[in-house]
Amino acid sequence: DHRSDLKTLNLYNEIISTLPKRNGWKSDEVYQYQGFWHTFFYLEGLLSAQQHFKPQTNDIILSSFPKSGTTWLKALSFAIVTRSSFDISANPLLTTMPHECVLSLESDLAHNSFHRNQDTPLIGTHVPYTSLPKSIIDSRCKIIYICRDPKDTFVSLWHFLYNASFKGVDSSAKEDADFEKAFELFCDGVSYYGPYWNHVLGYWKASLESPERILFLKYEDLKNETLFYVKKIAEFMGYPFSLEEEDKRMVQKIVDLCSFQNLSRLEVNKSGQLHGRAYLIEKNAFFRKGEAGDWKNYLTPMMAARLDQITEQKLRSSGLTF
Ligand code: A3P
Repeated sequence: DHRSDLKTLNLYNEIISTLPKRNGWKSDEVYQYQGFWHTFFYLEGLLSAQQHFKPQTNDIILSSFPKSGTTWLKALSFAIVTRSSFDISANPLLTTMPHECVLSLESDLAHNSFHRNQDTPLIGTHVPYTSLPKSIIDSRCKIIYICRDPKDTFVSLWHFLYNASFKGVDSSAKEDADFEKAFELFCDGVSYYGPYWNHVLGYWKASLESPERILFLKYEDLKNETLFYVKKIAEFMGYPFSLEEEDKRMVQKIVDLCSFQNLSRLEVNKSGQLHGRAYLIEKNAFFRKGEAGDWKNYLTPMMAARLDQITEQKLRSSGLTF
């Protein structure tokens, strides 16, 4: 009931108040939990999800570090699993934002798993592999993880944070000094769900151990060979395309439906805001450029070299490269 809800929230509050704390990119605070930095509200959501979340059978978890292609992966996966229920021309993606078609574990579903769409076996999350609710690991849910070149991820995150408004976070400043400060913090591992490298490595290692359970994708690969990877995603999820569907160019239709060009021009993604317990985000902030390599327009050669060097060092011997 309501009173016990309040009690649990107070308990989470108490737990969070004991954690290591640092200043984030803006005037916010981030808390270190199980090795990763979190904002207050998402961490509260994670604690609740760790305690209560129960996946449905056949649920597929769509996981990512923020700004790595979450919206795209949600749209593609949603289109794949709903293709037999709707014509492409009537797909809910045309009138509903991808983040509302596929809800997120630690925000939308954290406190009310009954909010979920029972027909869609898809759940989004940014939670690091080692912090996923035990119920997800135990039920052996399939997981699709998408990551992206850390330079583009950083640049995308920088732009996003100044378009979104999170509770308790000041969105006003946008100066060179802020950019440099954010860069330093990112390099230091301090960003929402950071350190970036540990996040990626957690899923990478798990995918090597259980390739049948975890599909590891890169934004850049998906961009270069979209058709190939959409087929691969569909097969992995257990929704392979039939020969008949291939003949009818179904894969291409899904790729086109979910393309940056198409999604970003839809009214539902262009105007208005996404509301959550912890945030209010302009929907168009999720659709900025949708390109690989945009970092070249923002990072100095020194900054790029520094990030590359950190990446090289952290991922060395993992077999993963960008
Ligand atoms: P940019 O800021 O570089 O443009 P996330 O969805 O994880 O929040 O990541 C957002 C990034 O993915 C943004 O990158 C955004 O433009 C890009 N993106 C959103 N929808 C996309 C799509 N359909 N295809 C390719 N990229 C997309």
